[in-house]
Amino acid sequence: MTQLTVRYAPAAPAPADALGGPWPASARPGPGADLLVGGVGLAETAERFGTPLYVLDEGEVRSRARAYRRALPHAEVLYAAKAFLCSAMADWVAEEGLGLDVCSSGELWLAVSAGFPAQRILLHGNAKSPEELRLARRLRVGRIVIDGQAEIARLAALVAADTPQKVLVRVVPGIAAGHHAAVRTGVGGQKFGFPIEGGDAADAIARVLDQPGLELAGLHCHLGSQITELEPFLQAVDALVRLLVDVRDRHGVELPELDLGGGHGIKYLPGDAEFDLPEFAVRVTDRLAVRCAEADLDVPRLIVEPGRAIAGPAGVAVYRVLSVKHSADGRTFVAVDGGMSDNPRPALYGSPYSVRLVGRKSDAGAARVDVVGRHCEAGDVLVRDAVLPADLRPGDLLAVPAAGAYQLSMASGYNLVGRPAVAAVKDGRARLLIRRETVEDFRLREVGR
Ligand code: LLP
Repeated sequence: MTQLTVRYAPAAPAPADALGGPWPASARPGPGADLLVGGVGLAETAERFGTPLYVLDEGEVRSRARAYRRALPHAEVLYAAKAFLCSAMADWVAEEGLGLDVCSSGELWLAVSAGFPAQRILLHGNAKSPEELRLARRLRVGRIVIDGQAEIARLAALVAADTPQKVLVRVVPGIAAGHHAAVRTGVGGQKFGFPIEGGDAADAIARVLDQPGLELAGLHCHLGSQITELEPFLQAVDALVRLLVDVRDRHGVELPELDLGGGHGIKYLPGDAEFDLPEFAVRVTDRLAVRCAEADLDVPRLIVEPGRAIAGPAGVAVYRVLSVKHSADGRTFVAVDGGMSDNPRPALYGSPYSVRLVGRKSDAGAARVDVVGRHCEAGDVLVRDAVLPADLRPGDLLAVPAAGAYQLSMASGYNLVGRPAVAAVKDGRARLLIRRETVEDFRLREVGR
């Protein structure tokens, strides 16, 4: 009986779940009220490398990449480098068998310099410069996504017909999804892609097919960001298969690839919904097979481009408290040594975050405070109405989870504060990947006065 009870008892929550936030799966309480990630204390790592510090859990990145490969064994999974890229990140995703989606010559060059195989790279961009296209050709990137009429002729002119360039055409299916209007790209009225409605997509496809140097491999769409429902992706499959059928009927070609972009949402707060990858894999694969069978079309190879869902949950930002200000109206402002220059997302999109004290045990009650940055702007608020111990004081360390995507990659030089250092943690060891940016770095770029 006892045995049965034990066997069928609900599994104890994993330590990371018990922490009540979107922490990496490796997160555990550590000695001295520290929080271990990848077997290393966040406070200990912050003492070693200074703050603000971004800590990346290598195991979390790898296991998320592996989960995509497992869920979609027949698809191609490209990590969207815009979420965050450095040479180590490029190594991890390459080793896990993913390709890479880049959207600038900077991302492209960094990845190839790190040894990422160019054939597994896809280049995006709504305004690729002639130099970018030339670099992409010179490095022999696997695919280029066409996102404008001018690009078709420009790229064709760079290509010798004996070594055609594989391209996809980015289309707008007219599907609204995503967390904020600023990142909604599946609908008209924004700068990306060729709308299907009205015929722009069909025209672009016809023009690409006319270029002997361009090999049209398929269609691409990207709906938006931080999407947690599956329905928009299923609608995108429907819309893109309809277009594949039109292309077959009009031009007599069946395109072998269908790229559904990224936009897979993660948890920022403990109760948030998140993108269900296994369910996505089953339903999208199934829907694609059904729609293709209905139209007597060969099933194209699926491509997905997750960025946030791979990098986001693997990152933790660690800040030091610089001041605590209690105002007469009852608000408390806890100011830290980073802010909108390392994480512009709250100011840009009103994005919510959770935050936790690390490295000191507090028995004080909970207080509602605003965690603010150190920049000269009232909107520089990192976490509004955070619940933290009432005795927070300068010198304390605060850790913000789900910090791995679109923070460092959107970091700025505001107030010459300098971008934070980045450390990787794995198997109980921490190593510095990127050093802190100093004012000397800013000065070094000056060449006149
Ligand atoms: N593919 C394309 C063509 C994209 O434009 C993007 C993101 C992705 C893939 C990856 O999307 P993900 O899976 O990471 O959502 N700065 C905003 C996000 C902008 C995303 C731009 N494109 C934010 O901080 O929420």
